[in-house]
Amino acid sequence: MDAVIICVPTPLDEHHEPDLSYVRGTIESIAPHVHDGQLIVLESTTYPGTTEEIVVPILEAGNRSRLKVARGDEEAGIHVAFSPEREDPGNDTVARHDIPKVIGGCGRVATALAESMYGAIFRKVVPVSSPSAAEMTKLLENIYRCVNIALVNELKQLCMRMGIDIHEVIDAAKTKPFGFQAFYPGPGLGGHCIPIDPFYLSWKAREFDFRTQFIELAGEVNRNMPRFVLEHIAGALNEQGKSLKGSRVLVLGLAYKRDIDDLRESPSLTVIELLREKGASVDYNDPYFPTVGRGRHYDLNMTSVPLDRLASYDAVVIVTDHSSYDYKAIVEQAQLVVDTRNATKGIRSEKIVRC
Ligand SMILES: NC(=O)c1ccc[n+]([C@@H]2O[C@H](COP(=O)([O-])OP(=O)(O)OC[C@H]3O[C@@H](n4cnc5c(N)ncnc54)[C@H](O)[C@@H]3O)[C@@H](O)[C@H]2O)c1
Repeated sequence: MDAVIICVPTPLDEHHEPDLSYVRGTIESIAPHVHDGQLIVLESTTYPGTTEEIVVPILEAGNRSRLKVARGDEEAGIHVAFSPEREDPGNDTVARHDIPKVIGGCGRVATALAESMYGAIFRKVVPVSSPSAAEMTKLLENIYRCVNIALVNELKQLCMRMGIDIHEVIDAAKTKPFGFQAFYPGPGLGGHCIPIDPFYLSWKAREFDFRTQFIELAGEVNRNMPRFVLEHIAGALNEQGKSLKGSRVLVLGLAYKRDIDDLRESPSLTVIELLREKGASVDYNDPYFPTVGRGRHYDLNMTSVPLDRLASYDAVVIVTDHSSYDYKAIVEQAQLVVDTRNATKGIRSEKIVRC
């Protein structure tokens, strides 16, 4: 191989700290086989310093020819770069080759080789001065999303108390042609990236005696959202003289976002667990998950139920707004709809509680 691209998972461990075992293991297995002039690119999202502090030493110690990683203008050696993956699952508005590719090499030749390789695929490559700058670029992008989502999640809670519709406000604010990008509130953060990546930086920051306050605060606000949803389900049932305990609740959508088949860190899982803890009898429906078993952070063992008995549930909770759902029909048939995604926008009914 002239080039090897590594994009293995980078989760958090049980102590909420970076788990780089997949990266380490992969580099260790590659190291004995690397050859002079080969390009090795890490794409996994990680804290600044990973390429230099983990990838480079393992490659240099593990290769059979005692090759070094090329620095500066060196031609000889192993060429190592970091280039973040910038996927947005379910987003078909931007073609993959139109997503610019950021590249930071340990040496100039690594950057040039990576530019030439990725330039064959992506319309634009964006070289930066170091792997750390490329690693930090990815974290900035994800922290930006995490913090802004937390901001609208907090403002949603205030707006509800003030009797203001946050979605109306966001729709109005986004008409500003500059300086504002719309983010939308929801039942919490999900996915493999946004709830996790910022904590890679918080962890690394501690080495520099630095506290990343925005990341901590955003994490706290976003993590609390499933509890906020639970409170509103309980409140809506209470209005009808019912308690959560013993109520039949149908959760619509398991995936962490619309129209995708990924449930990693999905807030639906937490909402279901919280409902069960309170004694509700919970079913779910998700066209992308006929069944759900056990994962890293959940143990549900459930089967998706059809949508033909909506009226038999005390509450139907929209947690993921898949576009295949007929929201009007759902509202018509259900006794009570708790909508965490504004999926019922434009539908007028006393049965809907938006939160
Ligand atoms: N999924 C996304 O949308 C997305 C977006 C941007 C960045 N990323 C980043 O990309 C990286 C990979 O994420 P993903 O969602 O593609 O992960 P994933 O779970 O889909 O796994 C990616 C690949 O790694 C392989 N793999 C898993 N464990 C391995 C091991 N121990 N050794 C070798 N290969 C192994 C898997 O088989 C799979 O082919 C993460 O760092 C993630 O943060 C993902």
